[in-house]
Amino acid sequence: MEDIRRREIEEIVCLGDVVGYGPSPLECLRVAREFDICILGNHEEAVLFRAGSKDFRMKAEMAITWTKEQLFDKDPQAGDEASTFLHSLQETYENGEDLYVHGSPRKPLRDYVYPKDVRNRAKMNEIFDRVEQFCFCGHTHLPGVFTEDNQFIHPEDLPMSVYLTGTEKAMINVGSVGQPRDGDIRACYVTFDGDAAVFRRVEYNVEQTVQKIYASRGLDRSLGDRLRAGK
Ligand SMILES: [Fe+2]
Repeated sequence: MEDIRRREIEEIVCLGDVVGYGPSPLECLRVAREFDICILGNHEEAVLFRAGSKDFRMKAEMAITWTKEQLFDKDPQAGDEASTFLHSLQETYENGEDLYVHGSPRKPLRDYVYPKDVRNRAKMNEIFDRVEQFCFCGHTHLPGVFTEDNQFIHPEDLPMSVYLTGTEKAMINVGSVGQPRDGDIRACYVTFDGDAAVFRRVEYNVEQTVQKIYASRGLDRSLGDRLRAGK
């Protein structure tokens, strides 16, 4: 948030999964409530509607159960506020020709689009058929740009981590603030001014978060370990 504040950012769009793996769900939701737009991620959906979901592995399922306790069982008023906010979240956000989703335009909450999927033409065509110009997504926690001509460009392969948009369609994965998985432990987000998408990496006190996870019964230690590896 400090990094965002010192730039001239006009609108903050959050692509979901504000809660689910981290040790401070209430605090994160409070921050997210101040964003201009926040859309629904599959973890918010799980917290709200899907106890015992088969979509989640054991550790993620445990984390969801623990997150629900933190959000709803500690303080009735905070629980009500969290519930109202979570229920207000939309699955997609459209701004002109640009589309914002958590997963993909095919299935906004659940579709994982991995870099290797550029070899799956049918899948990418289905996705780009639903995109007018640019689409922003998250979910895999892997930042980069999917181009209409079936390429995936990692931010490290972009000059200064800047993707200059042209007239071609593109789907931009903004990476993850709270649990990067591309081997870079710094928080990741993207700024966009209509012409350039810039991948931003921000150092933060990872160890402090790891220790907080270790201290949270109900969050598996591996959720802390992975932050140290960016995996
Ligand atoms: Fe997700």
